[in-house]
Amino acid sequence: MKNLNFTSFADVPDLQEWIKIAQNFKENPLSHESFGKGKTLGLLFFNPSLRTRLSTQKAAMNLGMNVMIMNVQQDGWTIEMEDGTVMNQNSQEHIKEAAGVISQYCDIIGVRTFASLADKKADYEEKVLQKFIKYALVPVISLESATAHPLQSFADILTIEEFKAKTNLTKKSKVVLSWSPHPKALPQAVPNSFVNWVKNTDSELVIACPKGFELNPEYTKGVSIVHNQEEAFKDADFIYAKNWSSFSDENEIYGKIGQNLEHWIVDEAKMKLTNNAKFMHCLPVRRNVVVADEVIDSQNSVVLEQAHNRVYSAQTVLFNILEQKF
Ligand code: CP
Repeated sequence: MKNLNFTSFADVPDLQEWIKIAQNFKENPLSHESFGKGKTLGLLFFNPSLRTRLSTQKAAMNLGMNVMIMNVQQDGWTIEMEDGTVMNQNSQEHIKEAAGVISQYCDIIGVRTFASLADKKADYEEKVLQKFIKYALVPVISLESATAHPLQSFADILTIEEFKAKTNLTKKSKVVLSWSPHPKALPQAVPNSFVNWVKNTDSELVIACPKGFELNPEYTKGVSIVHNQEEAFKDADFIYAKNWSSFSDENEIYGKIGQNLEHWIVDEAKMKLTNNAKFMHCLPVRRNVVVADEVIDSQNSVVLEQAHNRVYSAQTVLFNILEQKF
């Protein structure tokens, strides 16, 4: 049986084909408005969300699906993720029953579960997502997991393709993923995924980050990594700003933020070094920490287009699962 889950770039059989499907949905969102009639999408959130929640719901509605949403931590029983546990402490329901029961009500299950940033091994084993995949009886899609955010990355690719065409870029586009400051420790899911997807396009990808903030080499193998942000920005066509905490396990600094790195903010002076680059960020973003107002408010900011494209990345994923399964 084909893999019907969607948790990473590895689940995309043909990116160019998927881009075409998504572009067609963008042109005509209701072209398949009855395709998912009678099918139900369940969206389970272990962590907060604005875009993923609403864009995935909108995508399902465009296909005629019903949608059920649950904030698992607030509204559900505390779920036990370990097998074989004597459940005489705080957890009230085992993932085996929880995932099995949700599968009785839903035809596809979406799960959002962030990294702990406390246990690198558990995060990179995707413990929670993998438990859902193991015990669910229906396809599972990632709404951002510990190490990946494929729905976001697919929307990012759609946005890059759209603006490459709009600006008539004749050269190979240069995309810079720039680490940017943040007061809290954030997971590596968005940048990991972004690297994984952009690597599989014809763009040149450069990662700019402070020393100590290199991403997992499994993702960045073959990608240029630069520690001088200004150098990286030169001649760039797209600047993708994102903070992430340390991947390193040296001195137990996995999941930690850096000190005195405020100067990594994306500001107008740095954007002037680029080839009139578009500014990208997955949002939510902390203004004047990650990016200066004058950049995110400029005509070159495409953050709303990225958020808009989240609908069509999700619609394409749901469409492909429905097409294969039913
Ligand atoms: N970019 C993104 O996933 O946004 P939310 O966290 O609001 O869903």
